[in-house]
Amino acid sequence: MQYGSNVRPPHFLCWQPLDISNQARGKPSAKLYYIELYNTSKYNIVARDESERRLVEGVEVTLVAKYGAAPSGTSTPDEGRTSPLDATARPIIRIGSVNKAFATRTGGAISVLNDINLSIPENVFVSLVGRSGCGKTTLLNIIAGLEAASSGEVAISGRPVTGPGQGQGVVFQQHALFPWLTALENVAFGLRKKKLSKAERRDRSVELLQLVGLEAAAGRYPREMSGGMQQRVAIARALALDPEILLMDEPFGALDELTRIELQQELLRIWEVRKKTVVFVTHSINEALILSDRIVLLAPHPGRVKQEFAVDLPRPRSRTGTGFNALYEEIWNGLAT
Ligand SMILES: Nc1ncnc2c1ncn2[C@@H]1O[C@H](COP(=O)(O)OP(=O)(O)OP(=O)(O)O)[C@@H](O)[C@H]1O
Ligand SMILES: [Mg+2]
Repeated sequence: MQYGSNVRPPHFLCWQPLDISNQARGKPSAKLYYIELYNTSKYNIVARDESERRLVEGVEVTLVAKYGAAPSGTSTPDEGRTSPLDATARPIIRIGSVNKAFATRTGGAISVLNDINLSIPENVFVSLVGRSGCGKTTLLNIIAGLEAASSGEVAISGRPVTGPGQGQGVVFQQHALFPWLTALENVAFGLRKKKLSKAERRDRSVELLQLVGLEAAAGRYPREMSGGMQQRVAIARALALDPEILLMDEPFGALDELTRIELQQELLRIWEVRKKTVVFVTHSINEALILSDRIVLLAPHPGRVKQEFAVDLPRPRSRTGTGFNALYEEIWNGLAT
């Protein structure tokens, strides 16, 4: 690991308990670090672990990938290609000929994503659906700027993605809230580098907690909240910086059915009010159909776009309507074959 003293302003905030020592030395370690990512290789340790409860600002660490560095490739941007569903709309996210391979321990490479081309228009809700291991998280991380493509290019509003902070906000399956901060403080944390007074920061955080229906829980710590409440706080925190694009990796995967349905409805409400482009990863065809304008079906080994579906059903959608069932069947067949 290399430590440096140069502190760059955080372009983007993403918090994830990450086992740095494991990555650096290849040895297991129980220590989790809360990090703030700058780009695919640099991040700032926010706190070394929960018990320390102190912010370690301005430390840059060079990320040592778990399985060694990814094989390098040439960038072959392919701005001309669009998916058939997006022929007319202005894309905010354009994914051109993206390939991703991971190096194996034995010196080989596994191809995880193969020639992904997608064009996602502004304010559209897109779901990525596919079997476990087909590369959904990898693709989302590449869009987020948390992972580099081996070749190809992702552009947001015409600018190539070189790291986080280009308008992407991320919500992970594991919410990674700071356990030592209250709901309000967790949301306000994202705003600490903004030129806002303490009162403005507080007001904005309260407003976001209201948006996710949690104003009454502002003073609670994560351990005092249910999984659904914690995930709501994570969504509020992702919205704090007002990202144009919300990237969500199975955010409701760990929740019970009822809470999941409630949060789906809430997310749709927020999406309609806040006008975001959402890229949502899910295993659930049902969830994708309730939420999305478009569904991208990925096939595994290596991950590739198998089919795209436009979901032109009016919202709120009935889970038992004929159109819903017909699309369910089509997507199911696409997954099964
Ligand atoms: N850092 C890595 N090094 C090597 N292989 C990796 C790495 N990250 C992911 N993979 C492999 O890439 C493939 C795709 O992983 P990814 O996590 O993107 O799948 P996924 O579709 O999100 O799966 P799930 O639905 O289970 O979350 C898997 O085979 C996984 O083992
Ligand atoms: Mg995944």
